Amino acid sequence: MSTYTAQSHPNIAFIKYWGNRDNALRLPSNGSVSMNLDGLFTRTTVTFNSSQRDSLLINDHPVSGKGLERVSYILDLVREMANMNERAEVSSSNNFPAGAGIASSAAAFAALAVASSHAAGLTLSEWQLSRLARRGSGSASRSIPSGFVEWMMGTGDEDCIAVSIAPPEHWMLTDCVAIVNASHKKTGSTEGHALAWTSPLQAGRVADAARRLEICRNAILNKDFETFADIIELDSDMMHAVMMTSTPPLMYWQPTTLGIFHEVRAWRASGLSVGYTVDAGANVHVICLAEDAKEVEKRLRELPGVSDVLVAGVGGAARIV
Ligand code: PMV
Repeated sequence: MSTYTAQSHPNIAFIKYWGNRDNALRLPSNGSVSMNLDGLFTRTTVTFNSSQRDSLLINDHPVSGKGLERVSYILDLVREMANMNERAEVSSSNNFPAGAGIASSAAAFAALAVASSHAAGLTLSEWQLSRLARRGSGSASRSIPSGFVEWMMGTGDEDCIAVSIAPPEHWMLTDCVAIVNASHKKTGSTEGHALAWTSPLQAGRVADAARRLEICRNAILNKDFETFADIIELDSDMMHAVMMTSTPPLMYWQPTTLGIFHEVRAWRASGLSVGYTVDAGANVHVICLAEDAKEVEKRLRELPGVSDVLVAGVGGAARIV
């Protein structure tokens, strides 16, 4: 058995995934759209060997318990496909803070799917890889293809996959991630998805999702920033409304998060092409045209409560390195 290393980018969702119609298979309640984040990455090495159990190192620290179980679950699917029994040594590292709403699990499971399937001698297509990555973390399916990506609901496990809708060079967007609180979030997205349907607002959010997704997809394809900014902010606000009204409620925003929303809207009103979106954390992803990124980064750094700004363009597909 050989060793393979894969690298993948996290992604930021423009139309969000929140809640599953099947938690075990991670079949989402609605389709979603994202872009991969260039410059930020997870690199994962997998070696199958003769040891008794799977092992996992993240940023050089041994991980056991739930974290290792989630990895072994993906390795089991790979072992089943490859008809083999060997355990694996998995070592993973990120160049960005994990668990802070920057989709670290998306990049992690995308890299794991690519590295482990190669190490097991499998040759999987892009859609098979996105399906496999999805079983570890739903949004990981979107980190497999390149650039701007749509993850389709499908009718079941087989066709619930992600595809590229435009390559990275299609539209020079930049994500300026304002770091508000880089500490590990209290409720992870796996637990969060399970709460989504306890909110009376989830049914309305899901019923309207296909409409928002179409507007967003067209705005990306037509490079229509104004429509794009309006729809990503609406979609993000709707997801957080569901989170805040779940039982128990999830409140990811901090006062600084809200302060940035007001600034971004004021900047847009004064002619700058910017819009915000927030995943399951307090950090704000401020999306802008690449030509304005320096100005947006500067303005964000001047805001009280912003401790850092990560800047990422549109990234490519997950790949073997
Ligand atoms: O893939 P998960 O289980 O980490 O869920 C991701 C959820 C959000 O980041 C909040 C939204 C999304 O579509 O990425």
